[in-house]
Amino acid sequence: MNEFFNKDIISIRDLTKENLESIYDSTNKIIEMDPTHRRELARGKSLGYLFFEPSTRTRLSFQSAMALIGGTSFGIADVSSSSIQKGESLADTVKIMSGYTDALVLRHTLDGSSRFAAEISEKPLINAGSGTEEHPTQAIQDLFTIKKELKKIDGLKIGIVGDLKYGRTIYSLLYGLRNYDVDVHLISPEALKIRTDSTYDIKKELSYTESENLDEYIEDLDVLYVTRVQKERFPDEEEYMKVKGSYVIGNDIVKKMKDDSIILHPLPRIDEISSDVDSMQQARYFEQAEYGKFTRAALLALILNKDGF
Ligand code: CP
Repeated sequence: MNEFFNKDIISIRDLTKENLESIYDSTNKIIEMDPTHRRELARGKSLGYLFFEPSTRTRLSFQSAMALIGGTSFGIADVSSSSIQKGESLADTVKIMSGYTDALVLRHTLDGSSRFAAEISEKPLINAGSGTEEHPTQAIQDLFTIKKELKKIDGLKIGIVGDLKYGRTIYSLLYGLRNYDVDVHLISPEALKIRTDSTYDIKKELSYTESENLDEYIEDLDVLYVTRVQKERFPDEEEYMKVKGSYVIGNDIVKKMKDDSIILHPLPRIDEISSDVDSMQQARYFEQAEYGKFTRAALLALILNKDGF
């Protein structure tokens, strides 16, 4: 039996390096597979999605991933049009949805929501973003992109810049990077430094520096991972205004980078990467978003097929 069959994907911490490498191999297989054969992988299967927060990429890439492997998907993209609006609980919503589908995807505002929902669900559940906690399939896609574009992960210098306090993609990425021999530089304003409740866990297995100054590292980086300041997670708008626009990656900054380095961003971006960077050779964030369709298709095919593919 393949190890992902019927498995919940709640935290990237639950995946070993071998698990991650196996997902990258399966993703390459999905990309290269004959489309007719690929559409057999989820024929007759359905994916249910429950999004309690807005999404463009995660929801649509899960839907396109399911279509790519021959399955269907349906769900709640906007809670205001569901019975959640009438007061139905998360537990009841998950219970009902798991009876209609073969796997579930959940995005929710609360930390711990996915682990809670996975206990209720009769079907495997994938965390598509839980509060400020984690977004494991984003990190799988990010690590796959690094490996695909730079042919390796070990040995790289990776700068992560922006909102490291509230950005859940950062925590999943750092947990994922613990499996590799990398130098990580965390660059943020003091107010948006990585949360101390998570540093203990990360520090044990990952060497990183913390700084406010991107200039110190920019010339040496192989990967510059840029994040949005997460306005919606600030308890106070005034605090957001103080750090908004702290780092704006324009072509003046990118010109200092190595020619073979890459710039990633989980997206959406607001103003932290200027649009004139999009046409520069280092920009790979749109490729990264497209790889998300293939990494999610691979993950779904593994979860839904007992003997893998
Ligand atoms: N990267 C990401 O999670 O994007 P969405 O919020 O659009 O899903």
